[in-house]
Amino acid sequence: MLLSLLLIALSLQPGCFAQASSSSNVTVTLPTIAPPTSQPLSNTLLSFSIEQDRWPDWSGIDSRNEFTYNALTRLAGLTGRPPKIRVGANSEDHTVWDPTVTVNEDEFPPPNTVTPYPEATHIAVGNEYYELSKWLPSGTHMTWGVNLGLDNATNAANMARAILNAFSTAAVRASGVVLDLIEIGNEPDLYSNNGLRSKSYNVSDYVADWINISTPVAQAIESHPLSRRTASKRGSNAVQGAVNIQACSFAGQGFTPTEVFDLGLLDSTPGELVSVVSQHRYSGAFCSGGDFPLVSFMSKASVRSNLTLWELDVATAVNNGLAYILGETGSIACHGAPGVSNTAGAALWVVDYTLFAASIGIGELHFHEGVGFKYNFIQPVALNRSTIDGSPLDPPSPPHIMPSFYGALLIGSAVSSNSLSFPWPVSHATLNTPSSSTWGMARIVELDVPADNVSGYAVFDAGVLQRAIFINLDAWLSSMEAAGDTRPGVHIDLGFAAANGTAGFRGGKVQVRRLAIDHADDLGNLTWAGQSYEDSSDASPTGQEVVEVVEVGDGVDLQASEAVLLSFDF
Ligand SMILES: *[C@@H]1O[C@H](CO)[C@@H](O)[C@H](O)[C@H]1NC(C)=O
Ligand SMILES: *[C@@H]1O[C@H](CO)[C@@H](O)[C@H](O)[C@H]1NC(C)=O
Ligand SMILES: *[C@@H]1O[C@H](CO)[C@@H](O)[C@H](O)[C@H]1NC(C)=O
Ligand SMILES: *[C@@H]1O[C@H](CO)[C@@H](O)[C@H](O)[C@H]1NC(C)=O
Ligand SMILES: *[C@@H]1O[C@H](CO)[C@@H](O)[C@H](O)[C@H]1NC(C)=O
Ligand SMILES: *[C@@H]1O[C@H](CO)[C@@H](O)[C@H](O)[C@H]1NC(C)=O
Ligand SMILES: *[C@@H]1O[C@H](CO)[C@@H](O)[C@H](O)[C@H]1NC(C)=O
Ligand SMILES: *[C@@H]1O[C@H](CO)[C@@H](O)[C@H](O)[C@H]1NC(C)=O
Ligand SMILES: *[C@@H]1O[C@H](CO)[C@@H](O)[C@H](O)[C@H]1NC(C)=O
Repeated sequence: MLLSLLLIALSLQPGCFAQASSSSNVTVTLPTIAPPTSQPLSNTLLSFSIEQDRWPDWSGIDSRNEFTYNALTRLAGLTGRPPKIRVGANSEDHTVWDPTVTVNEDEFPPPNTVTPYPEATHIAVGNEYYELSKWLPSGTHMTWGVNLGLDNATNAANMARAILNAFSTAAVRASGVVLDLIEIGNEPDLYSNNGLRSKSYNVSDYVADWINISTPVAQAIESHPLSRRTASKRGSNAVQGAVNIQACSFAGQGFTPTEVFDLGLLDSTPGELVSVVSQHRYSGAFCSGGDFPLVSFMSKASVRSNLTLWELDVATAVNNGLAYILGETGSIACHGAPGVSNTAGAALWVVDYTLFAASIGIGELHFHEGVGFKYNFIQPVALNRSTIDGSPLDPPSPPHIMPSFYGALLIGSAVSSNSLSFPWPVSHATLNTPSSSTWGMARIVELDVPADNVSGYAVFDAGVLQRAIFINLDAWLSSMEAAGDTRPGVHIDLGFAAANGTAGFRGGKVQVRRLAIDHADDLGNLTWAGQSYEDSSDASPTGQEVVEVVEVGDGVDLQASEAVLLSFDF
């Protein structure tokens, strides 16, 4: 099967190994053995966060949403496990549990050109709302948000009980979808600005407030069959483990994990259930519109500076024996910026951003999604308004994937099913020294690529080099092609070194799969390994798979605005 695909690829693309597009040459040295600075790679590295107000659109109500299910299953097929799903975000702090509501009742403000799909200002939910979790692919692990904004401990406990009870119903248990975490409050470091608390609300007020509202939530967890106390009775093979608490969920650095831990958050009753520290990151904000240049967004330096911000917080989490994730992230906040978040260039940004985050010890990134948001990977339902300016769409656009989905396909192929599930066992001793518990699984290290906007990573299985990823973030725009410019690129020669610094050598062949795009500012027409995923109604590939096979010694060509996955052993 594989061989026939390769032969087809060779016969279809006789000229594809030519050096014609190279405008510069670089040599990159890959360690053949995972160095101590490599980090473990999770098979749920690329996960999702979903805006709570329209959750039933994502899941389906009376039957599953086939498009959501198929798109997530497509990614699970690459990594061996569906992406994790967190449901929450802004609308988490506007949700009340109401025994008279069956699924949900939302109140939405009118749309406008900047925000064609505004978030609900009030969401009342009933028990069935949480039970819709059963429609996700089997093996999906979930995090559910509880309202801290309302400052009502009774409501918070009601929400927590409804969530816990939903995951104990026969239907959800049979689905194989499990509850990992409950998060209490979204971006509390913004409460003093968004009206949820007074202007003087500070980090000490927050810690007292969080403990107050989270204590009955923790009590609901501890008295429930899904608690740590009773988890062991379900046996070590039970799919549903103990439910824990996800802490922080800060929007920025207004509050920090170090501050809230120093103020005693972890020593409280709910603090004892904390297993994950989550923070949020966007590289800009489109809340009141604005003009965001794609060219400056596709920058290796910006990707790095937006993520190295969190290195101290990663270390704080790990030093406290906790996992660290970006529990909500994306390109540009407030649903994305047109011409940036919805473009092919954003797919390349997703690849570099996600892999760089992994290389500095961030265990997972949950990319935020809503119905009609510009930065979505997946649009789960038909849309009758433009996501770009809110103008009517007649006929409506059917459910579809967006360019960033191709970034998820590359990431899924890079982490592979050799990765283990996050969180893996950590202690501060293992931050920079591979521990036996994480050594066998996939690991990643960033490579030194001597080019301003080309980045590279090596991935190891069982400590041995297996794959490499190169991303060329230089923006090749449709206007450049129209002006008659020649698309630039780099030729990458591969060198090898053993981890102990001695020269290494690898001969043989390497498989090359390309994330190919026509122009960085296109809104579609991408391909992954020769195939399109946007021409089908169920996120399945169309067209012939193209896997190039080259001699390792020949290196690889990489055009501006393109990424490749190299596989050394196949
Ligand atoms: C890059 O290397 C190739 C051989 O691999 C050579 O033909 C080409 O001239 C080099 N280009 C530059 C700009 O050095
Ligand atoms: C808190 O929530 C409960 C349950 O929804 C409600 O009965 C109660 O009135 C609320 N308390 C306040 C002060 O709003
Ligand atoms: C927060 O404000 C209170 C007064 O409202 C003050 O006592 C406390 O020291 C402040 N905490 C910090 C960390 O500034
Ligand atoms: C904690 O809850 C109690 C009772 O509901 C309330 O009186 C108190 O002000 C709350 N404290 C904080 C810091 O929110
Ligand atoms: C890299 O990208 C940045 C941002 O777009 C740009 O300013 C810079 O010129 C680029 N560098 C190269 C070598 O193209
Ligand atoms: C994050 O990325 C944006 C967009 O590329 C850039 O403008 C900004 O300077 C970066 N922010 C930081 C803190 O590095
Ligand atoms: C889009 O659909 C919604 C709900 O189905 C409806 O309320 C709205 O009027 C429709 N909008 C347009 C522009 O057709
Ligand atoms: C370097 O590591 C390789 C692979 O583990 C090993 O075969 C070799 O003996 C080591 N060389 C030195 C100088 O330690
Ligand atoms: C895809 O490419 C075709 C042919 O160049 C073009 O007409 C179309 O607008 C492109 N579609 C998108 C979404 O960019």
